[in-house]
Amino acid sequence: MGMRLVVIPQGIRRVLPALVNQFIGNIKDSSLVYFLGLLPNERELFRVGQDAAVDSGNLSPLLLAGVFYLLITVPLTHVVNYFDARMRSGRRPATEATSGLEEASEVKSLPATAPLPELRGGQLELAGLGMAYGELQVLRDVSLVMPAGSVTCIIGPSGSGKSTLLRCLNRLVEPTAGDILLDGESVLSWKPDRLRRRIGMVFQQFNLFPDHTARANVELALRKVQRKPMQDARATAARHLGAVGLAARADHRPQSLSGGQQQRVAIARALALDPEIMLFDEVTSALDPELVKGVLNLMSDLGRRGMTMVVVTHEMHFARSVADQVVFMDEGRIVEVGPPDEIFTHPRSARLQRFLSEVL
Ligand SMILES: Nc1ncnc2c1ncn2[C@@H]1O[C@H](COP(=O)(O)OP(=O)(O)OP(=O)(O)O)[C@@H](O)[C@H]1O
Ligand SMILES: [Mg+2]
Repeated sequence: MGMRLVVIPQGIRRVLPALVNQFIGNIKDSSLVYFLGLLPNERELFRVGQDAAVDSGNLSPLLLAGVFYLLITVPLTHVVNYFDARMRSGRRPATEATSGLEEASEVKSLPATAPLPELRGGQLELAGLGMAYGELQVLRDVSLVMPAGSVTCIIGPSGSGKSTLLRCLNRLVEPTAGDILLDGESVLSWKPDRLRRRIGMVFQQFNLFPDHTARANVELALRKVQRKPMQDARATAARHLGAVGLAARADHRPQSLSGGQQQRVAIARALALDPEIMLFDEVTSALDPELVKGVLNLMSDLGRRGMTMVVVTHEMHFARSVADQVVFMDEGRIVEVGPPDEIFTHPRSARLQRFLSEVL
């Protein structure tokens, strides 16, 4: 499935212009071969034109030869450019540029228009979790309870293992020690697909399919993973795109959406599968400053509605105001965990004090 959805479309897009360039090059080169007299009995068109021009002083045959080459290569270039543009942005051309400020209000106007239902979050528990990349021990004995409906923010310096912890939680990497319990049941023996239906993840770099529209990106998981019928998937996708303020942009491809909009499509895609846990890995780090708030507001709304969330973030203000518990990690271990007030105003360990003095 990955081959058909990702590798082949990307491959064609990369290879097509190069192949056509090669083809045009071949046309030129083969005319050179004739020109050099390697095929003495056949005569190359350009040469025929040139000889005629010398013999009769009439330039028309030479011009005709030039036009002939142009006729072959120019339309071909246009055809390839057309397909290239079509593959990048779809049938719909990019719309006029919109200001990021307009986009910020796109999200702000949401709650009034669409009161959203309560969600049912699950409880997640880590028991002595460990993970190593070969020799490199990245997580050590991580134990933590994330109660149903709670928001846990994970902070810590770069390389402390925050992303690795999230990736373990939905088994993008396999832990090497310990256990992960979802509503009291160990998930390590489950098939990863079963787990990922219940634990959704959103990444810093959006990871949308570039060759699909926003709508298709959301529908895809519903159809392939949940095997929903077309009509059903379409209605669910429309509902979730509407809930993140993107109903009007459902037919746009990622390339013609801003980072903030792409990130909201990614959130809608994860939510459409109706997960009990949502993992967010620095989802606002790649966004322009005025777009960060929209995505953060969306996340705090989710938290209020009862989703269990694990959020790796550098947005200390968000952690302070939305989190139920804040976890500070360093060197693969949990150094401190507690309610935000305690962590931010009364840090106990020297390492957390130092970290806060660097980032606040
Ligand atoms: N695929 C990998 N193979 C080998 N080592 C890795 C791999 N991914 C991460 N690491 C290492 O694991 C450690 C933890 O990485 P991780 O990405 O979890 O940190 P992080 O806390 O998310 O950092 P950041 O804030 O920079 O995102 C780092 O030392 C990193 O170099
Ligand atoms: Mg990371």
